[in-house]
Amino acid sequence: MPPVARRTALAVALAAGLAGTVHAAAPTDRPWMDRSLPADRRAELIVAAMTDDEKFRLIRSDFGLASDKHGVPEGAVSGAGYVPALPRLGLAAINETDAGLGVNKPGIDGKGAISLPAGLATAASFDPAVAHAGGRMIGGEARGKGYAVLLSGGVNLVRDPRNGRNFEYAGEDPILAGTIVGAAVKGIQERKILATVKHFAINDLETGRNTHSADIDPVALRESDLLAFQIAIAHGDPASVMSAYNRINGVYAGENAWLLTDVLKKEWGFKGFVMSDWGGVHSGAKAAMAGLDQESAGEVFDKEVYVDKPLRAAVASGEVPKARLDDMVRRIMRSLFAHGVIDEPTPVKPTVAVPYAADRVVARDALEAGAVLLRNEGALLPLARKGQSVVVIGAHADKGVLAGGGSSTVTDEGGDPVPGLEPTGWPGPVRYHASAPLTYMQKLGGKVTFDPGTDPAAAAKAAAAADVAVVFVTKWAAESYDAPDMSLPDGQDALVAAVAKANRKVVVVLETNGAVKMPWLGDVGAVMQAWYPGSGGGEGIARLLYGETSPSGRLPVSWPKDEAQLPRPTIQAAGLNAKDKPADDIDYNIEGADVGYRWFEKTKRDPLFAFGYGLTYTTFAYSDFAVGTDAAGHPVAHVTVKNTGRVAGADVPQIYVAAPGGAMRRLAGWSKVSLKPGASRRVDIPLEPMALARYDDAGKRWRVAPGTYKVKLARSATDFAGEATLEMKESFPVVKAP
Ligand code: GLC
Repeated sequence: MPPVARRTALAVALAAGLAGTVHAAAPTDRPWMDRSLPADRRAELIVAAMTDDEKFRLIRSDFGLASDKHGVPEGAVSGAGYVPALPRLGLAAINETDAGLGVNKPGIDGKGAISLPAGLATAASFDPAVAHAGGRMIGGEARGKGYAVLLSGGVNLVRDPRNGRNFEYAGEDPILAGTIVGAAVKGIQERKILATVKHFAINDLETGRNTHSADIDPVALRESDLLAFQIAIAHGDPASVMSAYNRINGVYAGENAWLLTDVLKKEWGFKGFVMSDWGGVHSGAKAAMAGLDQESAGEVFDKEVYVDKPLRAAVASGEVPKARLDDMVRRIMRSLFAHGVIDEPTPVKPTVAVPYAADRVVARDALEAGAVLLRNEGALLPLARKGQSVVVIGAHADKGVLAGGGSSTVTDEGGDPVPGLEPTGWPGPVRYHASAPLTYMQKLGGKVTFDPGTDPAAAAKAAAAADVAVVFVTKWAAESYDAPDMSLPDGQDALVAAVAKANRKVVVVLETNGAVKMPWLGDVGAVMQAWYPGSGGGEGIARLLYGETSPSGRLPVSWPKDEAQLPRPTIQAAGLNAKDKPADDIDYNIEGADVGYRWFEKTKRDPLFAFGYGLTYTTFAYSDFAVGTDAAGHPVAHVTVKNTGRVAGADVPQIYVAAPGGAMRRLAGWSKVSLKPGASRRVDIPLEPMALARYDDAGKRWRVAPGTYKVKLARSATDFAGEATLEMKESFPVVKAP
């Protein structure tokens, strides 16, 4: 027994003797199992007791799935990562799986899972409670399926609507994205498993992600993508941060000392551990000294397992101090102790049934809160419960709803109702979730028929014979590639145009990865963005279309008219299986921190739809807008919101601020207010100080300059309903948990 443990054991025995009967203390030979000790102390104790081999074992995970290198590791629950048990230390095996929308592998009960709608839908809810509930749901399923780590928390900013992974993220604004993802991470970890935030940092395009350098001024990076991570980490306290594949200003994220050590660990005080992305490690000593703590599945995805032989040699030679190796292990162990997976190991047998039906309702509610009504001419929506014939057209709406592709794709617990769609191989398979809009629309509406939409003429004929036509359109997107353009594929524009010619009452429901071009927009009555709707999506869409609930989502992204409005109108080598070579560098200095609505303001252009925009079935009025400070001197906006319509609904009054001299507007706060018809409520909206501040690189701190700030009450980033001024003294705010 190592000396440290013997001394502690003696102390514990003495204490027990003196104090009479005490609760069963930790086994004397494993003082780290004493739950009364803080996680940091427990981590110190266990690291002190470890052999070198145990340490080197813990700073890498193995690939938990079969590959050309090996089968599913002995004892693993198939998933992205696996760290074998260390019985001598009393450590159970750790199984890791993807991802941020739900559990992507069957787990110990061998079933599918429930998928949340796209992260963009949860962000569009503008409601951290929705994100938190979604996190608790997928975290519960992960634990119930035997996983201790859920590789969740995608919080890269949406800088381009064509990025293949936007559906995993939370939009273009760092304060909204960080707040939403932080709440999701908090919810996941309440289920006593570890969450991550990823991909650190500025992995904002998929094309060439493993090699390209994201080039951006460090201050602009801090005021955009890094601010989203900083807020998500402060709000969610993630156990781990996953470093990205790409380089940042020429240095790989996984060996970027400025990013991982100076910013994340020193300035932000991050206590968890940095894991690599799968295939994102390019060195042993350099990565370890830069701040990487665990190599993920290196035996399959890296040129070699850099943190084994190469790092052992570096430690033996003194190139890497032993203290750094201990720090790597200590961070991992601290997270495991802090989030309960050591004290309550995840089940190895399906002990408690996963509540899939209840979880599907959570997914439905998230979609209902995050679908965005973009157009509703002549109050075409909501559809009438009776006396109105409807034809549903296209997108397999008789079977289910589309999911995005890649490592985050969940196989629905109800199976995949539309199997075999290309690509069936990576980054496919293309998955649909077993929640058919048609089924639920038929329950809610009168006569509701279906046309597959494969023949525009037949669809037009069906539309002509119905009172209303509801056309579902899709655009699949996936990890590992970006779309070359913003167009809908597979002739769907022609389908919508043909239907619109046959019937003036047309509703289009989008199932896409974000903004797309809509050449038929002026010819249709209503458009709803349902994102990738998730496992409750069919029911949620039906309930929204029939007015069971009123749409309340607001766009978490600006909606460009076309690619010409973007900072980079073309993406070199974009597209699935593109042949040409990706760009070595992505110049993010074009927009810098002026992402999304700030880019449109800077370039004096109007998007098709603005960030924060969304319609509903009722109307809201604002009155008595004022801005002040609370008892602690923090700025707060106040406004009375009234539901002036005839149905219940939820509004999202937003607050944007502009620094003295009229610099860029930034979202500083918002509130989601649900009101019955005629009801009103006075809401207080705290302003996030970081929206008033600029990053001062010299001082290595955020600084609010003294002066008069413009504060705007708004319905979107371009639709203002009130203005006030706010006098601010100089201050140096820090990002903190709500
Ligand atoms: C992937 C993704 C990451 C995922 C990991 C494990 O390539 O970039 O988001 O968690 O590998 O599947």
